[in-house]
Amino acid sequence: MMVQRWNKKRAHFPLIVFLFGLFILSSILYNELSIRQIHQNPDHDDGHRYQDSITSTTMKLPSRPNRVPEVLDRFTTCNSTVKYSGRKGWWADSKPGPDRRRGTSERCDMFSGKWVFDNTSYPLYNESHCPYMSDQLACHKHGRSDLGYQYWRWQPHYCNLKRWNVNEMWEKLRGKRLMFVGDSLNRGQWISMVCLLQSVIPADKRSMSPNAPLTIFRAEEYNATIEFLWAPLLVESNSDDPVNHRLDERIMRPDSVLKHASQWEHADILVFNTYLWWRQGPVKLLWSTEENRVCEELDGLGAMELAMEAWANWVATKANPLKKIFFVTMSPTHLWSREWKPGSEGNCYDEKTPIDDESYWGSGSDLPTMHMVEKVVGRLGSKVTVLNITQLSEYRKDGHPSIYRKFWEALGPKQLSNPASYSDCIHWCLPGVPDVWNELLFHFL
Ligand SMILES: *[C@@H]1O[C@H](CO)[C@@H](O)[C@H](O)[C@H]1NC(C)=O
Ligand SMILES: *[C@@H]1O[C@H](CO)[C@@H](O)[C@H](O)[C@H]1NC(C)=O
Ligand SMILES: *[C@@H]1O[C@H](CO)[C@@H](O)[C@H](O)[C@H]1NC(C)=O
Ligand SMILES: *[C@@H]1O[C@H](CO)[C@@H](O)[C@H](O)[C@H]1NC(C)=O
Ligand SMILES: *[C@@H]1O[C@H](CO)[C@@H](O)[C@H](O)[C@H]1NC(C)=O
Repeated sequence: MMVQRWNKKRAHFPLIVFLFGLFILSSILYNELSIRQIHQNPDHDDGHRYQDSITSTTMKLPSRPNRVPEVLDRFTTCNSTVKYSGRKGWWADSKPGPDRRRGTSERCDMFSGKWVFDNTSYPLYNESHCPYMSDQLACHKHGRSDLGYQYWRWQPHYCNLKRWNVNEMWEKLRGKRLMFVGDSLNRGQWISMVCLLQSVIPADKRSMSPNAPLTIFRAEEYNATIEFLWAPLLVESNSDDPVNHRLDERIMRPDSVLKHASQWEHADILVFNTYLWWRQGPVKLLWSTEENRVCEELDGLGAMELAMEAWANWVATKANPLKKIFFVTMSPTHLWSREWKPGSEGNCYDEKTPIDDESYWGSGSDLPTMHMVEKVVGRLGSKVTVLNITQLSEYRKDGHPSIYRKFWEALGPKQLSNPASYSDCIHWCLPGVPDVWNELLFHFL
């Protein structure tokens, strides 16, 4: 429908929205891990645990809503929708913590630097040797023949990134749970981490649980797990099923992370992200105290701020100080080649080298969102380490799957004759850019 307009003179806004939505949808809607397994594993248990946890906390804190709100799922609907009232989470009255600034102790900025071609130490693993590789990200397997994207090392300007060391990483993880929490970009980073680490574990000493909201990779001899929790909006929402969810009509509880926190609170190392799901138009808010399913509607940025504040409140008041908590900033997209090559009309398709211009910043990386994140995370001081991967990933227009991935919907001849029209310029090939995000995680761990 809209896709065939790609080759017309001007880019059409609906096309962009459609493309953007298509890839998030297609990648997230369908999962490379067996969909059938999910149906065999109904998450009723999680619901019960969540209800228990919500009930016990409400008793202790009378200022919270004292009615147990129903759990949102993909069938949840709003009875009616009104404009956002300006309401904040119940914790908004409590005094904010000291606004301690982070990381000035370090002279160098690990996130400012350049990509250096290095085909002796990269890639850090072989795509076809990782049994947990995703068909969305295995670009070589799906026909990409230019493999340059696998050979780049990140070189900070005034210092060096700690050298990746599999055994040292496993020692850091011994007896621990490392959990990634977020959307499909974070899932890509999780798969990268599993692929980086799995090769040294004998096949009979490792396992992967079936795909579910919480997916777990286990390494027996280290008594360690590397987990991924699907929570694209961080707070509870109607999109918390990793396979069946609603991108078009997102409903969230701006005042509740409990459903997810009941899963992530047991992890020792937490890596959060959230961004793209807030870039799809307004979001509906269903407060926990609302009894008639009257939703409020708010723009994505405002809604993301409410969600980030709910998350930050959990970090500030509930997180064990021994936990290591990371927040990964927005992952850039490369949907419009005119941004790095004025006058052109493509996207990331057929891009084979990184961008050299160190000041490059694409319009998909929303600055007001970045400032909001900086403000919210800044208040948490040293409790959270920011993995500021945005700028360094901006340069990597060559790193996306484009057409070299599995697509879940059949492609028609119109699309096939115009590869840019169905290119995925949002996710990242593996081995590739997310491996470097994990090297940064290793560096700061
Ligand atoms: C690395 O790249 C250089 C320059 O492109 C090439 O000459 C060399 O054969 C490559 N080495 C390996 C191991 O791929
Ligand atoms: C990955 O492994 C396959 C099979 O063992 C091998 O053919 C291929 O050359 C390897 N690729 C890289 C980039 O080393
Ligand atoms: C394995 O790790 C868990 C924490 O993740 C800990 O509770 C348990 O005692 C550990 N087991 C052994 C045998 O070390
Ligand atoms: C939706 O609104 C109607 C009319 O106000 C009310 O009777 C009904 O209970 C509401 N539904 C829910 C689930 O709150
Ligand atoms: C991340 O780095 C950019 C510069 O590349 C900066 O503008 C932004 O504020 C940083 N974000 C956070 C959350 O620290």
